[in-house]
Amino acid sequence: MSAPRTTPEEPEQRSRTPAGAPAGGTGSRQDGPPAADGPSAVPPAAATAPAGPPAHLEPGGALLLTGLRLAPVPDEASPQGIMFRGAPRAQPGPGMPYTLARRDLVWADNLNELIERAKRRQWNAATDIPWEAGRRVAPDLEEALADVLTWMLQQEYAAWYVPAKFVSRIHPAYTEVGLFLSTQVVDEARHVEACIKRLYLNGVGLREVSESTESSIKGLLMQDDFPRTSFLLHVLGEGTFTDLFHLMIDIAPDAATREMMVRSLEDEARHVAYGVGRLRTQLASQRDPDAVGQQFVEALESRLSFTYEVSGIPLPVQQALAVLAGGGRSPDAAARGKERVRAFVDELNRNRLQRLREAGFSEKVADHISQLHIRSAGGLM
Ligand SMILES: [Fe+2]
Ligand SMILES: [Fe+2]
Repeated sequence: MSAPRTTPEEPEQRSRTPAGAPAGGTGSRQDGPPAADGPSAVPPAAATAPAGPPAHLEPGGALLLTGLRLAPVPDEASPQGIMFRGAPRAQPGPGMPYTLARRDLVWADNLNELIERAKRRQWNAATDIPWEAGRRVAPDLEEALADVLTWMLQQEYAAWYVPAKFVSRIHPAYTEVGLFLSTQVVDEARHVEACIKRLYLNGVGLREVSESTESSIKGLLMQDDFPRTSFLLHVLGEGTFTDLFHLMIDIAPDAATREMMVRSLEDEARHVAYGVGRLRTQLASQRDPDAVGQQFVEALESRLSFTYEVSGIPLPVQQALAVLAGGGRSPDAAARGKERVRAFVDELNRNRLQRLREAGFSEKVADHISQLHIRSAGGLM
C-alpha cells in the first residue's frame, strides 16, 4: 500500500499581497459599484461596465472558482469584517474573532481541485450502499464487525467535530479553506450515518464503548491550534485511517460493508490530501521544517496528558480485526487473522513514517512524531 498522494495542483493562484491590503487593486472608488443619484436615476451606460474580464466557463459550461478573476490570496489578512478577499472598503471593518488569518497556516495549493472533487463524489448512505448484500453474515463475523465499527464510529465523530469547530475561525479571505472543510464535515457526518446503519443492519447494534478511546479522542478535540490539530487529524489520524480502510476493504465480511469502506476511503484520501497540502505550505514558509515538527511534538505531548492506558490499537478491536481477517474464531482462522493484523500494524507504522518524511521532516523528527502518535492515539486516529 502506498502512502496517500496529493492531487495534481490547480493553476497557481497565490501571490504575495501585503498584509491587510485590499487585494486585487480594487480599493479605489471608481472600481466599486456605481452610485445612483436617486431612486429614479438611470445609471449611465459607463457605470454598468464590468470592473474586470468575464469569468471563464469550462467546455461543459461549468463555472469553477478558478475561472473567476479573484483577488490573489493574501499572505495575511487583518481580522476585521466579513467579506471575501478583494472588496473595496472606505472604513476598516469591525474586529472579528478570526484566529486563522494567515495563508501559511491554512492554505493548500490543491484546494480548488479538492473542493470540486469532493462535490462530484458525494454519496448517499441511504441509497448508494447495497444494504441487502449485507444480510446473512455469519454471527461471529457480524459481531466482530460490530466491535470494529463501534470503535471506528468514535473516530468518525472526532473527524466530524474538529473541522466544524474551525470553519468559523478562518478569515473569509481564505474562503476556499472553509469550503473544503465544509465538504469534510458533510463527509464525516455521512461516515457516522453509514457506520450506524451497518451496525444495526442485522440487529447487532453498538458494542461496548472503550473509555481509553474516548480519552484519546478528547486529547484531539481539546486542541485549539488549527495547524497542530490539522496535523494530528488530517495527516496522522486520517493518514493511518486510510490504511485501515484498505484493510477493511480486504477483510469485510459482505459487499455492503466493502462498498462503505471503498467510498469512505475515497473521502478520507481527500482529507489527507488537504492536510498534506496544508503542511507543505506551512513547511515551505519556514527555514527549518523541524522547528515546526517540534510544535507538533508538543501538541502530541499535550494530547498524551488526556490519554490513559493506550499503547496500541485497543485489544478488543485488534481481536475483532483478527476474526474478520481470519474468517472466523476457529484456531486456524485465529492464527491467520492474528498474523494479518500484526502485519497491518507494522505497515501502519511504516506508512506513517514515510508520509512524515515526504512532508519534509528529518528522519529523527519523523520517528519521534510517529512514536508519540502511537502512544497518544493507539496508532490510529
Ligand atoms: Fe471519516
Ligand atoms: Fe476523514
